[in-house]
Amino acid sequence: MSEKKITKKYYQSLKKKIQLFSQQYYTYDSPTIPDHEFDELYRELKLIEEKNPNFIESDSPTQLIGSKVKGGFKKVKHSKPMMSLNNAANIEEFKSFYNKIIIEVPKPVIMFAEPKFDGLAISLTYEKGNLVSAVTRGDGNEGEDVTSNIRTIQKLPLKLLARQVPNKLIVAAEVYSLISDFQRINDNLKKSQTKTFANPRNFAAGTVRQQDPIIAFKRNLQIFIHGIIEIDQNLSLPTHSESMLYLSKIGFQTCDLNKKINDINQAIDYFDKISNKRDKLPYEIDGIVYKVDNYELREQIGYTSKAPKWSIAFKFPSQVSQTKIVDVTFQVGRTGVITPVAELKPVNIGGVTVSRATLHNLDDIRKKDIRKNDYVYVKRAGDVIPEVEKVNLSKRDKTTKISIPKVCPACGEVIIKISNQSIYKCPNELTCRPQIIQSIDHFASRKAMNITGLGDSIIISLVDSNLINDYSDLYYLSYDSLILLDRMAKVSVNNLIASIDKSKKPNFDKFIYSLGIREVGLSTARILSQNFRTMDELISAKRESLESIKDIGPIVADNITSFFSVSSNIEKIKKLVSSGIEIIYPKLSSNEFISSKSFVVTGSFNKISRNEIEEIILSNGGKVSSSVSGKTEYLICGDQPGSKLNKAKKIGTTILTEEKFLKLL
Ligand code: IVH
Repeated sequence: MSEKKITKKYYQSLKKKIQLFSQQYYTYDSPTIPDHEFDELYRELKLIEEKNPNFIESDSPTQLIGSKVKGGFKKVKHSKPMMSLNNAANIEEFKSFYNKIIIEVPKPVIMFAEPKFDGLAISLTYEKGNLVSAVTRGDGNEGEDVTSNIRTIQKLPLKLLARQVPNKLIVAAEVYSLISDFQRINDNLKKSQTKTFANPRNFAAGTVRQQDPIIAFKRNLQIFIHGIIEIDQNLSLPTHSESMLYLSKIGFQTCDLNKKINDINQAIDYFDKISNKRDKLPYEIDGIVYKVDNYELREQIGYTSKAPKWSIAFKFPSQVSQTKIVDVTFQVGRTGVITPVAELKPVNIGGVTVSRATLHNLDDIRKKDIRKNDYVYVKRAGDVIPEVEKVNLSKRDKTTKISIPKVCPACGEVIIKISNQSIYKCPNELTCRPQIIQSIDHFASRKAMNITGLGDSIIISLVDSNLINDYSDLYYLSYDSLILLDRMAKVSVNNLIASIDKSKKPNFDKFIYSLGIREVGLSTARILSQNFRTMDELISAKRESLESIKDIGPIVADNITSFFSVSSNIEKIKKLVSSGIEIIYPKLSSNEFISSKSFVVTGSFNKISRNEIEEIILSNGGKVSSSVSGKTEYLICGDQPGSKLNKAKKIGTTILTEEKFLKLL
């Protein structure tokens, strides 16, 4: 890499790309971060900074990510103990807390209410405005120094944003994970058969104690500040609410749901409001923390040995309840996958009656050793299907083992096991009713063909009255047949026909997604739509050529070729096309030199970024692969190319420099 060639602009774009990667905004509609790609970009950034120290900006990921922790985390004593909170489990306990304070303090008491974040508490110490240490709560007196991982939190200021900063500032904060990050990374861990985390809290806690800060960075930890522990500047901050405002002004993240509360009615209203919002929040909370706002009053009210008397955590009703598995049934999904379901003795979980819970798959059942007739803890969280968390072994008596049935519970077809995966499946996609119904539902869904007015119940009546057998039949429905269905009046029939008609010009990616190929979500569909010029080209693609596409792995490539090898699937596509569906292919400003050619891009570039080069290739009808093979026609090679260049030279691939590529364009 030559020093002169790398521009600051390029450095900044690379830095931004890495930042976006970890926040997952980067890939279109897809939250996955290909690890190898991240590592490659990170190495490149580090190298550029080593050669151009004047480029380094303080928010660069390299400045956040330090070196690995060796020999465990250092134990550190807190300057003031980090106390815990008393809990109120119900409204009576909460009222009793509130009333005691009112009796003790003769004037109106202002409270400050905040969600109780389900993460882990840490203290952050800033000296002369710079973050110097981050220590876990530990036992309240002594915690562990986890600064190296906490520094990677992108929204945490390493330097305070104020002209006059306190000499010393210690704040209390909660480190947590977004539910989406927890799910995404857990899914990846599951795929690579690595230990997964039970919930976002454990995930955040595990991440904070990672030896390698680069892992913490990729996991995108979040932080909310919930108070000042110590400050040595006289700023006249007599209340917690004013302190929180100050903290947010100097760069800290405070929760925007926090609110000042004037009386008990407002306190209860706030509790109800946040309870209702809880399922829609991107992070988990398990209650509301109420704190007396005024610091002087706090001291007057005082402390017990463990917790302040001026604060309480009013917990939401438990989201976990115990009940018995009375039976286990098996559900057939859209792609035929069989999911075991626990039929439960109905139980109230956080105000909702639950009578079924997912058991995921046989592996999960064996891991948790769940059996029929077991007493189990069932967890309900947000909109997701309740799940069996664990067995209460002390109550086990006369249980029977769960095994996957030999035949499909819906259609009687012999169930097959998908090799190397603990997935069982009914292969009868043609006549298995739940598969038909769900694949039509998926086809018509908003992100797919977007046929409005085609709800579940209409699909079921259409299938059960034999008006349709698969999604391609939708385009052959007539007014006369639809009007005969129960609950279908003139207006709804006309609306449905109009929306079916309106869906006839799908974009290529949406069309691919609608087909319902296993594990082909919208982002994969988009990648496919950029790598194949027509549907026919995609249908006849070989496994190897699919696998050579960047971000398409062997399992997905297999799923795609298997799908197109089934003649009924090809028939459906033909029927869709004959019904008048016109797929809209991405406009390719087809460049003769690029179109249909296969490229690999490696190294770092000066005039445009690697990302831009890849975009140019894709939008001109070329293909981008991640590794050099006999099929690669061009290797576009920048500085610091690595092993791809050697391989290309070995097999005689044409090698283009950045200048040459731009010239040919
Ligand atoms: S204030 C004197 N505010 O709850 C204690 N804590 O049970 C001051 N927590 O260790 C704590 N959200 O980890 C406070 N908005 C919030 C909180 C919160 C979560 C946790 C914190 C603490 C635990 C105490």
